[in-house]
Formats: sequence, C-alpha cells, structure tokens
Amino acid sequence: MNAMMKPNMMTDKEIQSAYDEVADQYDKKIWFDQHILGVARQRKQLMSKAHGEILDVACGTGLNFPYFPASSEVTAVDLSERMLDVAREKAADLNLNIQTRIMDAEKLEFADGSFDTVTTSLSTCTFPDPIQALREMKRVCRTGGLILLLEHGHSNLPWLAKFQDRNVLQHYQQNAGCRWNQDPLDLVKTAGLKITHSRRFGLGIFHAITAG
Ligand SMILES: C[S@@+](CC[C@H](N)C(=O)[O-])C[C@H]1O[C@@H](n2cnc3c(N)ncnc32)[C@H](O)[C@@H]1O
Repeated sequence: MNAMMKPNMMTDKEIQSAYDEVADQYDKKIWFDQHILGVARQRKQLMSKAHGEILDVACGTGLNFPYFPASSEVTAVDLSERMLDVAREKAADLNLNIQTRIMDAEKLEFADGSFDTVTTSLSTCTFPDPIQALREMKRVCRTGGLILLLEHGHSNLPWLAKFQDRNVLQHYQQNAGCRWNQDPLDLVKTAGLKITHSRRFGLGIFHAITAG
C-alpha cells in the first residue's frame, strides 16, 4: 500500500460498519465483477474443490456457499453482522446447514488444524493485516489440507495498474478500506503458504489460488 495512506487506515470497527451499511446491496454492487469479469465462474470452479470440514473466512453474503459440496460441514465467519444476516438467508434458501460466527480473520478462534479446507474470497484487500489473516488460515487448516483463495489486486495490464495506483486512496475511502493495488500472490507467499496452482483472470486483476 502507498505509505501516504497509513495515517488514514480504517479500524476494524469502521470496516465492520461500512459492510453493515452495504450488506443489502452487496450482491448487486459486485455484479460486474461476478458476471462480466468472470468472478462467478472462477468462484464456482475453485470453491467446488473444497471438501470435508470447511471454514469460509470473511464469507460476506455467502456467495461461495452454493459451490461447497453438499456433504461438507461449513463454518462461515465475518466481522459484519449484517453481511452474516444476508449469508444466513442465502444458506436457508439453499437449504444448507452452515454455522455462522462473528469473528476477526486475524484472530481465528479455532484450534490448530481444525479444518480440511479453508477458503476466502475478495478479502485480503480489506484485512488491515492480510499476512496475519493468511497465517491464521494456514494455522487452522489441517496438515495436507486445502487453502482456496479468490483474490484481487494490481492488474498486470500497465494502463490499469497505473489507474489503480493513481486512485488507490479514493478507492480505499469509498470501498470500505479496499486496497486494490496489492499483489495477492506476494501476500500468500509472504505468509508462508505454498501455492500449488494459480490462475489470473478478469483484466489481470483477479487470482484463483490453490495453496496449502
Ligand atoms: C469484499 S467483501 C467479500 C465477501 C465475500 N467473501 C465475497 O467473496 O463476496 C469483504 C468481507 O470481509 C469482511 N471483513 C473485513 N475485515 C474482516 C476481518 N478482519 N475479519 C473478518 N471479516 C472481515 C467484511 O465484513 C466483508 O464481508
């Protein structure tokens, strides 16, 4: 992130309030990313690899839920109660039994190795300390388990990357603390996760990452 932004960093409380406010509109707000930039298709491909006991971190309104295998046991956590309300409605509509809890991704309240699969999507851009959150995901994932990440960051298209850099502060302030010029692959590697597969898509902004 641009060093200029540090004094203006949003607190967890501010991020939570921003998502509480946007919860009812969130699925509409990301329609373009989902259906034009290919996020929904990649989400389906990636999240259907999840198995066993699954933890969905920063689950938001539950857009990953339809793709988890019916046989799996899913726990979903998020900071925002309103986002979780929408997620619970989605789970009920899909007839899924998903446990939801308010929880900070940077301090997961689960024992080491509790889950077979840990997933997160469109979230490391917002976590104040994404490396700490990724380390927590690795900690609660069983040895040999799967970590599935659908993340966005700096485009590899130079014109778009420049646009993101120029507007990073405005985007951060208008989008609940989203830092859109980070490199998700760097974050994942720095956190000590081992990437086994990754695919870039959607104007070079998005990454579907399988790690362990
Ligand atoms: C852009 S939304 C992504 C939601 C969903 N995963 C998706 O793919 O649509 C980011 C989510 O991260 C949640 N969030 C932000 N900071 C968090 C934190 N520290 N711990 C847990 N959730 C957090 C927000 O409340 C919001 O629901």
